[in-house]
Amino acid sequence: MSNIFQLIYSSKRSETCDELAIQRILSISLQNNPHVNVTGLLLVAGMLFIQCLEGEEANVLDLYKKIKEDERHFNCTIVCIRKVEERIFPAWSMAFKDITKEAALDFYGEISAEEVALFQEILAGQKVESTFATRLLLRLLNNNEKLHKFLE
Ligand SMILES: Cc1cc2nc3c(=O)[nH]c(=O)nc-3n(C[C@H](O)[C@H](O)[C@H](O)COP(=O)(O)O)c2cc1C
Repeated sequence: MSNIFQLIYSSKRSETCDELAIQRILSISLQNNPHVNVTGLLLVAGMLFIQCLEGEEANVLDLYKKIKEDERHFNCTIVCIRKVEERIFPAWSMAFKDITKEAALDFYGEISAEEVALFQEILAGQKVESTFATRLLLRLLNNNEKLHKFLE
C-alpha cells in the first residue's frame, strides 16, 4: 500500500514577491525538502503559484502549514489532496517552471481553444481563477509523459 501523499494548492503571489524572492524560495526548498523526503513542483503563472508537494502525509502537511504562513503569497487554497501510488517527481526536491510566458499551450493537447484562451487570461492576471489552472496541472500530473516533456 502506497504511503505517498500529494497535496496541490494554489496561491496568489504577493506584489513584493519578485524573481529574486522566488529564487530564494527555490533555494531553501532544495535545501530543506530532502531532509523531510518531500518532492514536488512549483509553477509560477503570472501572479499565481501552483505547488505540488508529495511525501509522507505528516511531512507534507507540516510543510504546507509552514508555507501557508509565508508572506510572499496569500490565499492558499488546497485544490487536491490524495494518496498516490508513487511519486510523480521522485528526482526533484522541487521542480520549477515559470509558465507565465508559455506562448502556446500545445502540449495540453486535449483542451479546447476556449480553455486555452481562459488559461491565457489567467496567466495575464486578468482573472484570478486558480481552480482551472490547477485542473490543467492535474491533467498533466496524470499524464506523466506530457509533464516530463513540459518540464524539459
Ligand atoms: C510559494 C512558496 C513555496 C514554498 N515552498 C517551499 C518548499 O517546498 N520547501 C520549503 O522548505 N520551503 C518552502 N517555502 C518557504 C517556506 O515558506 C519557508 O520560508 C521556509 O521553509 C523557511 O525555512 P527555514 O524553516 O529553514 O527557515 C515556500 C514558500 C512559498 C511562498
